[in-house]
Amino acid sequence: MQQNRDGFSSRFGVIAAAAGSAIGLGNIWRFPYVLGENGGGAFFLIYLAFIVLLGIPLMLTEMSIGRAGQRNTYGSFRNLAPKSKWYFIGIMGVVGAYMILSFYSAVAGWTLQYLYDAVVNNFANKNSADLVSMYETFTSSSFMPVVWTLVFLFLTGLVVVAGIEKGIEKYTKILMPLLFVIIVVLDIRAVSLDGAEEGLSFLFNPDFSKISSKVVLEALGQAFFSLSLGMGTIITYGSYIDKKEKLFSSAVSVSLADTAIAVLAGVAIFPAVFAFGIEPDSGPGLVFITLPNVFQQMPGGYFFSIIFFFLLVIAALTSSISLLEVIVAYFAEELNMTRAKATMVSFISVGVLGVLCALSFGPMSKVTLFGFTIFQLFDYVASNILLPVGGMLIVFFAGWVWARSRFKQEIIGESKENGLFKIFMFIIKFVAPFAIALVFLNAVGLLKF
Ligand code: TRP
Repeated sequence: MQQNRDGFSSRFGVIAAAAGSAIGLGNIWRFPYVLGENGGGAFFLIYLAFIVLLGIPLMLTEMSIGRAGQRNTYGSFRNLAPKSKWYFIGIMGVVGAYMILSFYSAVAGWTLQYLYDAVVNNFANKNSADLVSMYETFTSSSFMPVVWTLVFLFLTGLVVVAGIEKGIEKYTKILMPLLFVIIVVLDIRAVSLDGAEEGLSFLFNPDFSKISSKVVLEALGQAFFSLSLGMGTIITYGSYIDKKEKLFSSAVSVSLADTAIAVLAGVAIFPAVFAFGIEPDSGPGLVFITLPNVFQQMPGGYFFSIIFFFLLVIAALTSSISLLEVIVAYFAEELNMTRAKATMVSFISVGVLGVLCALSFGPMSKVTLFGFTIFQLFDYVASNILLPVGGMLIVFFAGWVWARSRFKQEIIGESKENGLFKIFMFIIKFVAPFAIALVFLNAVGLLKF
């Protein structure tokens, strides 16, 4: 089985696929709404610090583990640390993938509906209040959100069945750069709206009184979520990367591209949020009620709205395939299923959970646990617990358990340890695991500053 493993065919393919995984609803839907709920600029600064200090090193670590382990997350840990329990990280990853993929598909389903709305010109002549009620009516209904969730998951399954090269790589290469261009166009329109300054200042002027242990944990969760870290997605993709590739520059490029898209999305959204009198802490609907306002204010808005929602669907798809790949690679390689069967089984099981998430805004909005709907519970637990804890265990494993020489081999090959590598190892051993643990324990209240 090992020798038939698929692989990425080119250098740009690797970056495009990992960037395709990273860039998605996390940047364009989740980043603005979580930032809006956590007070703006101060959250943004902490988020950036986490990307640089923890995100990039963790991405490099996950790529290294995957490429050295040559298997799915679970199998990679088994290969690198036989006769130990570290494969547990892999199991957590599969559980995390289930949770994230479920609510992710529900939101991706909304983007499909919005693509449809764009095509039939449903945003035309609607004011801010109309757009709010359009969003609420749709997300709280019980039929179409479910249909779209399943359609989206089905599309995800189709790409995953096709395999790595023919499927994942082909789509991401062309469409991600296009997404970038469209967002820049939206930015230009947004910053020239009347009242744009207030939005930019919300985003870029930190108000340090807004910082709390909760804000710090949410920023960490968002950083990991956005970069697809902490649950083995990048380990799984890393296992398909050719031995010749330089991991360091791949990890840095992917992280930078992902952060750039998040910032550009913020710049498209917050000026409009303030210009149209929308509350920045409106929650998961923020992008869906803000951007249609912007489209109406721009020449060619009809076409832009179609292209934008189309690309958002694609961005979501290149991320969801990476999530599904974690589950499918595990089923296929560890439970000896064919790829097709593994995909079938995942489609059905994730589908059930996805439907529950899709119904969380309507018929099942009263079904709660700890005050969270199913959707909120999956999002909160996965992003703010599983990813930080997973990330912490991964860096701990890499820094303290895995042989330094083998780690070095993946990152700089045969060359002698240089300064950059030493700094990197210092972060992995001494900074990252403890920083993540502190943020986490502080927020759950087990430790107080
Ligand atoms: N990073 C993706 C986004 O921003 C979502 C995603 C894909 C993800 N794989 C992941 C999030 C693994 C956490 C973990 O849309």
